[in-house]
Amino acid sequence: MSLKNQLTTWSVAILTLIALIAGSISYLFAQKGAGLFLDHQLRLVAGSVDEGSQLPSMQEKYLTEDPQNREYGFVIQVCIADKEVRSSRPDFTLPIGKSSGYSEQVYGDEKWRSYTIVYPDRTVQVSQSDVVRRAIASDAALFAALPIAGLLPFSWLLVVLGVGRILKPLADVTMAVTMRDASSLEPISSKNIPEEAAPLITEINSLLLRIQESIESQRNFVLDAAHELRTPLAALHLQIDNLSKCHSQEDLQARIRELQFGMQRSAHIVRQLLKMAHYESGQPESVRKQVDLGDTVKRCISAIIPLAEKSGVDLGMVCDEEAEILANEDDLAILIGNLLDNAVRYTSRGGKVDVSVEVEGDRAIVSIVDNGPGIPEELLPRVFDRFFRVHGHQTEGSGIGLSIVNAIAKRESAEVSLENRKDARGIRATVVFSRLA
Ligand SMILES: Nc1ncnc2c1ncn2[C@@H]1O[C@H](COP(=O)(O)OP(=O)(O)OP(=O)(O)O)[C@@H](O)[C@H]1O
Ligand SMILES: [Mg+2]
Repeated sequence: MSLKNQLTTWSVAILTLIALIAGSISYLFAQKGAGLFLDHQLRLVAGSVDEGSQLPSMQEKYLTEDPQNREYGFVIQVCIADKEVRSSRPDFTLPIGKSSGYSEQVYGDEKWRSYTIVYPDRTVQVSQSDVVRRAIASDAALFAALPIAGLLPFSWLLVVLGVGRILKPLADVTMAVTMRDASSLEPISSKNIPEEAAPLITEINSLLLRIQESIESQRNFVLDAAHELRTPLAALHLQIDNLSKCHSQEDLQARIRELQFGMQRSAHIVRQLLKMAHYESGQPESVRKQVDLGDTVKRCISAIIPLAEKSGVDLGMVCDEEAEILANEDDLAILIGNLLDNAVRYTSRGGKVDVSVEVEGDRAIVSIVDNGPGIPEELLPRVFDRFFRVHGHQTEGSGIGLSIVNAIAKRESAEVSLENRKDARGIRATVVFSRLA
């Protein structure tokens, strides 16, 4: 539901309720005030009446008066000693009170309110019909409540204008966002934005920034990938061209082997790219389960042994402590496999790669230590960058392996680091996992 509608509805409802209460209170007070005023008038008139000298002329006036107006008048009665009661209105015989003060009596079909003054020689009574009194009081009360009723629609109008004005910055933002180009990821301006809505705008802007970074990274990835694939594909092209220039069967065989090698290299790059795209795409996390770290490491070692034997590298496990962790086993195998692959491939013939699984408190640590050439200290921070390779290696590679390691480590909440060994030449790769209790 629209915030504007809710605010307007609530404000109008509250104002109306308050106006109704205020109007009713004013009405009641005004009515009461009018009653008191009329009582006061009754007393004043009664006090000004003498022995009744004005009564004959008043009777005369009553008879000639317009019946519409005369209702409002007071009726004066004067009674002297034992004489007959005289009245300002012909045939008005409301019983005269015995003591001074206000009284109420029913006369005819009407209720009358009177004020009586008992003098030693005479009694004066001034009366007024209750119907008349109520009409006067109601009119007074209505006049008191009228301004409130009159101002109410005006207050509604002010509420509508006020709410519109308060919410205008939000409406402006909505408009600006609606009007913007679908490809525009510029931050939304938070100028004039109410304090309560500012965090929302900040969050949206930070989301836009992340989307922008993600699009930028995807774009770079595609560019890098295309660039990386271009070289081996160009080489393949050249090798295929060269096939026709072969002079002998042996030559042809050699070139076909070269071609197969080139194909394998391209296929490796594509596989690595696919893996990286998979792990960096932020897809929902895969199912994690309890994994024996030592077993997984041993399986990875078995898988890499053929390569180690071929390269003449002594690969073995030097420490195997019992450690259970929560992880996705396939991802874990790729992570450790890539580190082992690097250790074996970048270590020259006759080299050694020692793998260990150790437990330190609630942490399980996998270390892969080689005695290869190591990595120049200044290039170490860049090895996890996509497509980064340390120049000078004869070894083939796409420069993606460690990016995949990094992406998986993030997903598995593991810490991975590469450092040059302090004790000898070579690299120590360490992966730290949280151990299951
Ligand atoms: N154990 C190591 N010893 C020496 N250099 C290493 C070692 N591990 C990684 N490197 C250097 O870091 C670079 C990046 O490694 P990474 O695994 O990301 O890519 P790659 O091995 O070249 O290719 P890929 O693994 O994708 O086939 C490597 O090219 C290599 O120069
Ligand atoms: Mg590698």
